[in-house]
Amino acid sequence: MAEIGVIGGSGFYSFLADARPVAVETPFGPPSEPPVVGEVNGREVAFIPRHGADHRLPPHRVNYRANLWALHSLGVRTVLGPCAVGSLRSELTPGTIVVPDQYVDRTWGREHTVYDGEQRPVVHISPADPYCPVGRKTVVASDKGIVDGGTMVVINGPRFSTRAESQWHAAQGWSLVGMTGAPEASVARELALCYTSVAVVTDHDAGIATGEGVTQAEVFQVFGRSIERLKTLLTDVIGRIPTDDCTCHHSLDGTAAEHLWTVTR
Ligand code: ADE
Repeated sequence: MAEIGVIGGSGFYSFLADARPVAVETPFGPPSEPPVVGEVNGREVAFIPRHGADHRLPPHRVNYRANLWALHSLGVRTVLGPCAVGSLRSELTPGTIVVPDQYVDRTWGREHTVYDGEQRPVVHISPADPYCPVGRKTVVASDKGIVDGGTMVVINGPRFSTRAESQWHAAQGWSLVGMTGAPEASVARELALCYTSVAVVTDHDAGIATGEGVTQAEVFQVFGRSIERLKTLLTDVIGRIPTDDCTCHHSLDGTAAEHLWTVTR
């Protein structure tokens, strides 16, 4: 069992020392990898590399439902979701860590609900404020350099944006662009889990940069350079993040799934 979950992004394939893999079955098939469970800073943590240990899963093929279900079934109550993002603002330079407070979902064709009406009842959760207020506050407080807030537009990928798409995203006032933030956050809320996105800026997206546009090599290189700082940050956050009763744990109150997903499990 574990109380905190971490879903690692591109290039973030391992986190826990002395970790033991735990086989978990989900109604949606296997997670990206069997979660590994171990101790970090005195807390029990479950870790799943979002794209698989060998980065075989593109963003549209990640089994978001299975990953979150697996963490939930291990007893996890709060999830930290580090990810690589492009910047739509000149002042958000590569290496900056942002804790977004909103997202815009422009993905399509992804399985985005666990309540498909067959095995599990129809449920409409509210993602009005899609991230955990407690988790966000805890991450922001851990390092002065962290940017508090911003809207992440989530594109389907795996390609990056055209310059026109990117200029349009920036003109909407959105500050970040990524490929995995949705449906990860909303599926977490469907399972009454706290979820906090921790976005690492790896590049200026095509709409605000001159030159050829973003490359995969650039994204991986900058994310790789940020990994140690990210791990230090997450270790500190894990030591302090509360997992007791939170509004996120009540996202199913009054719905048909209320009795299925009690916070006590
Ligand atoms: N992930 C990292 N950089 C990105 C970008 N520019 N667009 C979409 N996803 C990204």
